[in-house]
Amino acid sequence: MKEVVEYAAKRYITIIPEIEMPGHSEEVLAAFPELSCAGEPYVNSDFCIGNPQTFVFLENVLSEVMELFPSELIHIGGDEAEKNGWRTCAKCNRLMNQEALKDADELQSYMIHRIETFLNANERRLLGWDEIMQGGLAPNATVMSWQGEKYGIDAARKGHDAIMTPINYCYLNFYQDAPDAHVLSWAGYTPLEKVYAYNPVPDSLDMEALKHILGIQGNVWAEYIPTEENEEMMIWPRALAIAETGWSLPEKKSYERFRKNALKAVEFMQSKGYSPFDLKNEVGQRREYADTVCHLAYQKPVEYKKMYTYEYTAGGKTALTDGLLGGWAPDDNRWQGFIGNSMDIVIDMETVQVINSIEATFMQDGFGWYWMPKEVEISISPDNKNFTLLTTVKNDIPFTQTGFFLKNFGWNGKTGGRYIRYIAKPDKESQKVGFLFVDEVIVK
Ligand code: ACM
Repeated sequence: MKEVVEYAAKRYITIIPEIEMPGHSEEVLAAFPELSCAGEPYVNSDFCIGNPQTFVFLENVLSEVMELFPSELIHIGGDEAEKNGWRTCAKCNRLMNQEALKDADELQSYMIHRIETFLNANERRLLGWDEIMQGGLAPNATVMSWQGEKYGIDAARKGHDAIMTPINYCYLNFYQDAPDAHVLSWAGYTPLEKVYAYNPVPDSLDMEALKHILGIQGNVWAEYIPTEENEEMMIWPRALAIAETGWSLPEKKSYERFRKNALKAVEFMQSKGYSPFDLKNEVGQRREYADTVCHLAYQKPVEYKKMYTYEYTAGGKTALTDGLLGGWAPDDNRWQGFIGNSMDIVIDMETVQVINSIEATFMQDGFGWYWMPKEVEISISPDNKNFTLLTTVKNDIPFTQTGFFLKNFGWNGKTGGRYIRYIAKPDKESQKVGFLFVDEVIVK
């Protein structure tokens, strides 16, 4: 590691280490189960904050880390703590009473504050993922905004430094091209053009707050990247887009110019034996994404018996009859998401119509936590009271299946009616955590 740090320093690069706490720490707690709330391995993924030995351990680790890494910023993670063990843990509860902490968020914040005090005493600064804002941000902390930009914006407004790395633009482990032209990846769709389009300097910030935006970061999480070649393909050329964004004013950027240079860079890397993404053979966005589908239900009103999620509205109540089909990822504002309940809608065709087909496409990618419905029921009615079931379509793609899938659930035949009810029931197992994503109900 000393050699790596030295190699980087010669090139004016500072390596910032990340030592994850209090969550994502299963591997530590497997070796030191006494530092978890349960006291045994493979139960908790978070350190027990009520155990004073946790702080002894973490300060020892950070002392070694500081000895190796001259970086002023030390990343302590802070993301995705489950906090489950803390709520029922006697030690954590004792500490919460003693320190008048009202909930698990404040307990996490207590820990981050303590670690910050330790780092500051050693002339280092704490950097953490945006969850470190939960329960109150430590006074000198720098925030890495990954769950969108809002945390970075909020931190900068409060006078904290922030680094922008929003998941929809800066996660280089998502698909770079059409999923069926690509090795298995961790869901999403983040082509080069999208990475390049990101501007880490939000318009909504004033000059004072803008000074706190330190820059941009690209992330590559490797749990679904089995080989080095695969990893190189995920990183390049997208990392070039991150770099150019970091050092360029938005008005100086041009994707056309950048792409030409990226093609040359890819060729150069290939000539040196590396395995970048083959940009010149990029397949690109789902073909249907470019068209507007005209069909009988186009722009007809939709009644929602159950609501879509606020996170994925696709534009709201007109989304499923707006003629717009989704792309390869649920975050393109074309896919409407349902979580915790069925999709259950009635389309009013406004007059009685002869109907030959009714269909909708759903998207599944288990890594992204979105699954096919278990089954779909399609019915028709003249009066919005008495419905006749046209079909029940069962899913045949198991929710345990890895990979990306689009599947059409539909009915064909001949019928007449004014009201169409389309119900998509989620799989029981995936219902609590996963989304249903649907882009349009097409009626012909
Ligand atoms: C993260 O992706 N959990 C920072």
